[in-house]
Amino acid sequence: MPMPTVAPFPAARLRRNRRSPALRALVRETALSVDDLIWPVFVMEGKDASHDISSMPGVQRLTVDRVAKAAREAQDLGIPAICLFPYIDQGEKTEDCAGAWDPDNLSNRAIRAIKDAAPGIAVMTDIALDPYNINGHDGFVVDGEIVNDATVEALVKMALAQAEAGADILGPSDMMDGRIGAIRTALEAAGHQNVSIMSYAAKYASAFYGPFRDAVGASGALKGDKNTYQMDPANSDEALRLVERDLMEGADMVMVKPGMPYLDICRRVKDRFGAPTFAYQVSGEYAMLMAAAENGWLDGDKVMVESLMAFKRAGCDGILTYFAPRLARALNG
Ligand code: PBG
Repeated sequence: MPMPTVAPFPAARLRRNRRSPALRALVRETALSVDDLIWPVFVMEGKDASHDISSMPGVQRLTVDRVAKAAREAQDLGIPAICLFPYIDQGEKTEDCAGAWDPDNLSNRAIRAIKDAAPGIAVMTDIALDPYNINGHDGFVVDGEIVNDATVEALVKMALAQAEAGADILGPSDMMDGRIGAIRTALEAAGHQNVSIMSYAAKYASAFYGPFRDAVGASGALKGDKNTYQMDPANSDEALRLVERDLMEGADMVMVKPGMPYLDICRRVKDRFGAPTFAYQVSGEYAMLMAAAENGWLDGDKVMVESLMAFKRAGCDGILTYFAPRLARALNG
């Protein structure tokens, strides 16, 4: 039996430590900082234009020139990293997904433009075939099945093109088996041994990705569901096995996704491995909070801070969040 740490009332009045802002500050256990933020942004073709995403109020798709400008502003706000997601027109999607590893595709041009405009911000990418895939899946579909090993070969090509373009952190979000090891080996062989990998290690088959699929134009394309590769929301031990495997294969950082409904997973992962652990507060979580705030049902700034603080309390080192610039502004006061 552990020793009790609290004396019985009235010796211990736990309210004593809460009685003033100064005392609350002294005993505060976690802090939320601009350093914790990775900002996901949506890139589209064109020049000097943006497009609102109706299910994500305040979030827009941006052309490459505007993404570069946004990256400079993010850098000035002190945000350490930006994460790119391309919007590919329905007509450009193919079965062979060749756009995914084109050195001059939208993402790779955006990486270069950001590196030019804001060399101090780390650029993270997404590695998965879904933006380029005619059927909306993260892997190749053969006879109705999402095939693993052929997909991994394509993901390796995609990773190399992103590393070549100057990406700092590669983010495989596809959930195929063996892709971290394959990407790591290829990066080493190509002289990109210093490029980091943040594995979407515990990525659940979640309905909270809905607005994101609108944002990248994948909602209409997706045939069926992602249940044969993304995780069952009922599972927890499996997340630890996935994280362990991805770390063994060479991931530098791991991610749990979605965030708020999976804080228990964040805590277990951090406690077990102590590795740099991130959560993705996904599009649906953002949409929920924003919808309630816009209706006047919740205080938007307060739930933003409270929801992001929860990730730090759960053991995360950082958070991918669409609130990044808004939180940075709020924290910079
Ligand atoms: C694609 C990908 C998804 C997200 C990030 N990368 C969607 C999916 O797996 O269908 C979701 C992000 C969000 O909802 O904010 N592989």
